[in-house]
Amino acid sequence: MNILLANHESIEQAALLIRKGRLVGVPTETVYGLAADAGNDVAVAQIYETKGRPQFNPLIVHVASLEQAREYVEFTPLAEALAKAFWPGPLTLVLPRRKEAAVSYLVSAGLDTIAIRCPDHPVMRKLIEVSGCPLAAPSANPSNRISPTRAQHVYEGFKGSREPAVILDGGPCLVGLESTVVDASGSSAVILRPGGLSREAIQVVCSVADAKLGGDIKSPGMLAKHYSPRHKMRLNVVDVKPGEALLAFGPDPLPGSLLSLNLSASGDLVEAAANLFSMLHQLDAIECEAIAVMEIPQSGLGVAINDRLVRAAAAL
Ligand code: TXA
Ligand code: MG
Repeated sequence: MNILLANHESIEQAALLIRKGRLVGVPTETVYGLAADAGNDVAVAQIYETKGRPQFNPLIVHVASLEQAREYVEFTPLAEALAKAFWPGPLTLVLPRRKEAAVSYLVSAGLDTIAIRCPDHPVMRKLIEVSGCPLAAPSANPSNRISPTRAQHVYEGFKGSREPAVILDGGPCLVGLESTVVDASGSSAVILRPGGLSREAIQVVCSVADAKLGGDIKSPGMLAKHYSPRHKMRLNVVDVKPGEALLAFGPDPLPGSLLSLNLSASGDLVEAAANLFSMLHQLDAIECEAIAVMEIPQSGLGVAINDRLVRAAAAL
């Protein structure tokens, strides 16, 4: 892992790595991000693996312009007004995902919404443009550590690990606080995470409603709206019952299902994480009695995969 001074050449180099599915540490005006191609399931899985996240918290998709954002999410009049007022800047909008959006379901942890933001940092914006794809990027710190506001913080957090492939050094972050996350899908703004853009500033543009605690809250870490399937789910199965679809894992998928999709035939947990939400979507779309899921080892990304499966199974 190298720290490279951000310039035309190093950004080109970083963009090449992004296109190959690698991760890049990159400055934004808020904090440094750990960025990957948002359309690449395996690269996104690698973000969770690298951060050591015990759960698949949904990630923010970064774009270079409002026009680019329209390719991935449905804008409401409220979102339109907020984006015009505060983009580029430390505001993330949670909006309905467009059906044709070329964004990995793992980015949004299987949700039908996407958190999207247009950052105000020349290095990040250039990286998005040169990479030619939207970038998924959480803060570039290992899980449960402090968010990084300098390239050196990113280096300290991940030294010795394979990712990120490089860290672009763009100096210290000016805001130093993560972006404010706002659910802008309705008629008033709901602040899901306070951050670098104040409530007062948002109130100049629109009304702000309080997130309902314990209710339908979609706030970070306590997402009640995580992807819940239509079908019943059975976990850790050792046999398939008549009429069931199978989510398999490993070289020996159980026989006898209506349809069987394998998270990873080779038993690779990063590959399994990359496939998890898109395969659940596929199996949930067919008519079946239930979705049976084979046992996933409780190690590495397996912990996060099992966490999501248990939530999905409990959702009905
Ligand atoms: O300033 C920032 O926002 C930084 C820089 C790198 O852009 N990024 C960042 O990402 O803080 P992260 O992954 O650490 O935080 C993303 C936040 C989480 O609180 C997550 O729960 C929320 O956004 N979030 C993401 N997608 C969501 C969705 N579809 N619905 C609700 N909340 C969402
Ligand atoms: Mg974070």
